[in-house]
Amino acid sequence: MACNSRELYNVSVLAQGIGLAPGKRRDCREPILPMERSGLSPEPLTRGPRHSRLEKTVRASMARRSKSSGRWLQEHFSDPFVQRAQAQGWRSRAVFKLEEIDLREKMLKPGAICLDLGAAPGAWSQYLHRRLGKTGRVVASDIQPLAPLPGVQFVQGDFREQEVFEHILTLVPQRQVDWVLSDMAPSMSGIDAVDQPRSMYLAELALDMAARVLKEGGGALIKVFQGVGFDALLREARGRFANVKLVKPAASRARSSEVYLLAKDFRLV
Ligand SMILES: C[S@@+](CC[C@H](N)C(=O)[O-])C[C@H]1O[C@@H](n2cnc3c(N)ncnc32)[C@H](O)[C@@H]1O
Repeated sequence: MACNSRELYNVSVLAQGIGLAPGKRRDCREPILPMERSGLSPEPLTRGPRHSRLEKTVRASMARRSKSSGRWLQEHFSDPFVQRAQAQGWRSRAVFKLEEIDLREKMLKPGAICLDLGAAPGAWSQYLHRRLGKTGRVVASDIQPLAPLPGVQFVQGDFREQEVFEHILTLVPQRQVDWVLSDMAPSMSGIDAVDQPRSMYLAELALDMAARVLKEGGGALIKVFQGVGFDALLREARGRFANVKLVKPAASRARSSEVYLLAKDFRLV
């Protein structure tokens, strides 16, 4: 499929208060060679065979599953971002969301200090480590375990708990952090009225952490599900950062209300 460069990196930048058009499909859902564009070389594919065995096992078990979970798995394994992530050795397709936003918005620089919240299984941390280089620093956290990653310091725990929040604070140099990233999303019950407020709470906590650790001029990238509390979160972000917008990368499913709040130029008050 022929795509122009605008379509390849089609991040929908939305003005405050303007909702997503959930049914709106992108013309080009598969950016070409994002890894080559970012200049990062994928790590050796040590996980390839495991992925294909897993895929076979899951495909076999699909027959026994319900129609809807079968459909989800079918969609998952035929997703070009999933396939590319597996082929390139990334731990999840989420890497392509961060990469697209990073390249488009010129976020990350070698030597930066970054906090990665909701880091498991670890694709963003993998990306950060390579992007920031030897002089950079990545502190990651998740309620789930994270298989060790070189150059990434990890704290396991529930970010809603004060002691986890405090533990992370002890690991990041105060007022020297360049970016706070949050891809946190609660396990979904499928009930919007439950899931959306839970995810909003995580986004609020991530913004709070950003306000505690960022240096002047630092930034935050936070996953948010639109709904109750969304406008208040935007207002809060606009009060602390000079430049705030919403982005939806191509790898973020069009039917999902997920967007990323991108806040730049943190102001110390
Ligand atoms: C979409 S995944 C993140 C994917 C990750 N960015 C990557 O690149 O692999 C969302 C993560 O949020 C984490 N999470 C959800 N609730 C959390 C909580 N209360 N505290 C910490 N992490 C949480 C989940 O365990 C999950 O790993």
